[in-house]
Amino acid sequence: MKAAYITRTGPPAEIAVGDLPDPAPGPRQALVRVKACAVNPIDTYIRSGAIAMPLVYPFVVGCDLAGEIVAVGAEVDGLAPGMRVWGSNQGLLGRQGTFAELAAVDARWLFRTPPDVTDHEAAAAALVSITAHLGLVDNAMLRSGETIFVNGGSGGVGSAVVQIAKLLGARVIATAGTPERRELVASFGADVVLDYRREDLVATVRDAAPGGVHVYWETQRDPRFDDAVAMLAEGGRMVLMAGRESRPAFPVGPFYVKGCRLHGFAMFKADAHRQAAASVDINRWMAAGALRVPVDRVLPLECTAEAHHLQESSTVGLSGAVCGKLIIEP
Ligand SMILES: NC(=O)c1ccc[n+]([C@@H]2O[C@H](COP(=O)([O-])OP(=O)(O)OC[C@H]3O[C@@H](n4cnc5c(N)ncnc54)[C@H](OP(=O)(O)O)[C@@H]3O)[C@@H](O)[C@H]2O)c1
Repeated sequence: MKAAYITRTGPPAEIAVGDLPDPAPGPRQALVRVKACAVNPIDTYIRSGAIAMPLVYPFVVGCDLAGEIVAVGAEVDGLAPGMRVWGSNQGLLGRQGTFAELAAVDARWLFRTPPDVTDHEAAAAALVSITAHLGLVDNAMLRSGETIFVNGGSGGVGSAVVQIAKLLGARVIATAGTPERRELVASFGADVVLDYRREDLVATVRDAAPGGVHVYWETQRDPRFDDAVAMLAEGGRMVLMAGRESRPAFPVGPFYVKGCRLHGFAMFKADAHRQAAASVDINRWMAAGALRVPVDRVLPLECTAEAHHLQESSTVGLSGAVCGKLIIEP
């Protein structure tokens, strides 16, 4: 099979595209013909070695996939050849990745793709929608009628957070960096969309939500806690999920006096049972056309190194080169 893989960690140029032996599915695995996979920032951290993961070389890069089952192991129930599936959490914790024509994936990580949802849509939504679900439902426990502020509503995670927060019945205030991206965030249903480059966010959010926001979701690697705590309502919750190296100052007094709570999590550590629970809602929302993660562009497998470079320059270098997901077609 054709695959995008590395034989050691390093820059995007370490990614080779070439033939590897077809994987054989284990007893609890399904063999998936991958039709689409999405690039996520974590793919680039694993490839570069910034996150130390156990890697079996040649290591196929990538977490997300959507495609069609071609074979199943003897102990697999409920999945069969010909079924369309999507999933995430591959290319991690010793598991091989998804950027290949074929991927052998434990059946517990695979979810049926609804009939009217394309492989591109399912792959784009995979990791980021599960992340948004875990953060909003399990961590922040966002309730209908509450107000959430999403800093960075146009990105992969942010676009899923905005849409899922609306689906959960919340009022959403979100930010984006350009007029086109603010229009996009408004099209996700955000009630108020702000320019993070120009506006005094604390003052504007106070005007839009005089009692403060119940949840503050930070997509940025260097949160401004003074601003976040100033925006939070009494008993407000803040969600952190980026910035491993980040060590910002923290306004302890204002935070505890308001009775706020801080939630941090890493999606890939959520077990398959929890991710499957998220997939039920995600599938229902995708099938209804109510959850669509934007696709920036579609590239062939040969462009995986270019895609890693683009994702890195955008998410880490803050170039803004990418809006939504980069989809690779093996
Ligand atoms: N913990 C987890 O489980 C988990 C899961 C997924 C991702 N992550 C992490 O979450 C982060 C975001 O991932 P992603 O895939 O959503 O990245 P992304 O698609 O590159 O999105 C980045 C977002 O940041 C916004 N942004 C850039 N500069 C900003 C600023 N100064 N203030 C506010 N917003 C700004 C961008 O807005 P514009 O494009 O409008 O400028 C865009 O919405 C990454 O660090 C990633 O590693 C963590």
